[in-house]
Amino acid sequence: MREWTREEIQRIGYRVVDLIADHLSTLPSEPAFNPVPPALARQLLSTPAPADPVSPDEVLRLFQDTIEPYPFGNGHPRFWGWVNSPPAVMGVFADALAAAMNPSCAGGNHAAIYVEHQVLAWFRELLGFPATSMGLLVSGGSMATMTALAVARHTKSGVDVRVNGLRDARAPFAFYLTSEAHSCARKAIELLGFGSASIRTIATDVDYRMKVDALEAALEDDRARQVRPIAVVATAGTTNTGAIDDLDAIATVCRRYDVWLHVDAAYGGPAILSTEYGHALRAIAKADSVALDPHKWMFVPVEAGMVIVRDADAMRSAFSLVPPYIRQAGSAGEVYGPPWFSEYGFQQTRGFRALKVWMAMHQFGLTGYRAAIEENITLANYLADRIFSARDLTLMAQPSLSIVCFRFVDPSLADEPATAALNRALLERLQLSGEAFLTGTELRGRFVLRACIVNYRSTREDIDRMLEAVRRLGRELLEFGIRK
Ligand SMILES: Cc1ncc(COP(=O)(O)O)c(C=O)c1O
Repeated sequence: MREWTREEIQRIGYRVVDLIADHLSTLPSEPAFNPVPPALARQLLSTPAPADPVSPDEVLRLFQDTIEPYPFGNGHPRFWGWVNSPPAVMGVFADALAAAMNPSCAGGNHAAIYVEHQVLAWFRELLGFPATSMGLLVSGGSMATMTALAVARHTKSGVDVRVNGLRDARAPFAFYLTSEAHSCARKAIELLGFGSASIRTIATDVDYRMKVDALEAALEDDRARQVRPIAVVATAGTTNTGAIDDLDAIATVCRRYDVWLHVDAAYGGPAILSTEYGHALRAIAKADSVALDPHKWMFVPVEAGMVIVRDADAMRSAFSLVPPYIRQAGSAGEVYGPPWFSEYGFQQTRGFRALKVWMAMHQFGLTGYRAAIEENITLANYLADRIFSARDLTLMAQPSLSIVCFRFVDPSLADEPATAALNRALLERLQLSGEAFLTGTELRGRFVLRACIVNYRSTREDIDRMLEAVRRLGRELLEFGIRK
């Protein structure tokens, strides 16, 4: 393969920058969602691998025609589905620059390693973790949770899991979480070999927060039955409603029962910068481990998750395995640098994720993040107020952080199934309309519309437009029926 000249790289690179600029600046005037037409989907799924090289201009044309017009939607000011944000522009460029350097961040004495350490130190400070703790950038909250619970297993199971797995264990194990914990906790517990039967589902209060007395009762009960507790997974910003568990009280209970406390702050963690929620989130500092996703409320392009574990030695001891083909024992620090990240997690070759976090954090600064997050919280409160004062809308949970759950209601809707069916139909129509993008969820078995505002592009006018569309679609459905 012939090497590209500097001029060729520049020419194509400038075209790429134009595409990025066009994409990001025209998104707000495009529909919030534009599904891939069936014919294009078929074409994309059936096109064989290119047998011969294709010119970069042609590749960019293909991108422009068949890929760029059908984004996920999360760059749009009225996209409030799941927990997905628009990207910080410097984060976008960072991905290209990181790929140009293309290091492996397994370890070594190169700049990317120090950038990751620097970013981790910033987050340790933000969350109040000691300088002796250790962390990693990972793909997202799921991998962060998996990593943290693997360290919890190593530390709390009382058996040498690395050698014998769990087969030597005499007592059954238990994990403690609520129905509101993200599904990744259950997946991790399953993958770590405990099985979901080891999960004690702790009751929640009216605001979907873990009931601390119920947690204590479950731990007491398990102690009496010789069940070995491994970890409590508390949530600082649940996916459904943004609820923040009482981290302070939970940490006290965990200490009393010698249980690992993992705090899932994947979504809510950055709100520690806000005036409204800073206080409630400060007790994250009491956790044994924490997950926080810069790719959620810090606008870093996906994938960018983070795990921090208080006990760095425990983390290393849970994962470290250094074969001779990686590096010679006792070899020079000038080549191999500080302890390798790959000794603290499962992944060996690791991308330069830290650069996009580092660049996005420079773009916003902590004051910029505080302002953006507080603005999102204000918008959520505005949305909740508007719903509260509307006759045809009902708030379905106390809004917390930047999540608002609600639904369209009408006296003619006879019962719960009819209301749920109308709202399900309404949600799909809203998504396909391109006016705004919400997702749905279930709260205590009831289907609700859910807006999660982690979007620095959103304004009050966007909220008003979404509500207008919801009401219009709701009325149409009432008038013409769901199967119009
Ligand atoms: C509270 C919470 N924890 C964990 C996750 C999983 O994170 P990821 O999707 O980045 O793996 C999510 C995703 O939305 C989440 O909201």
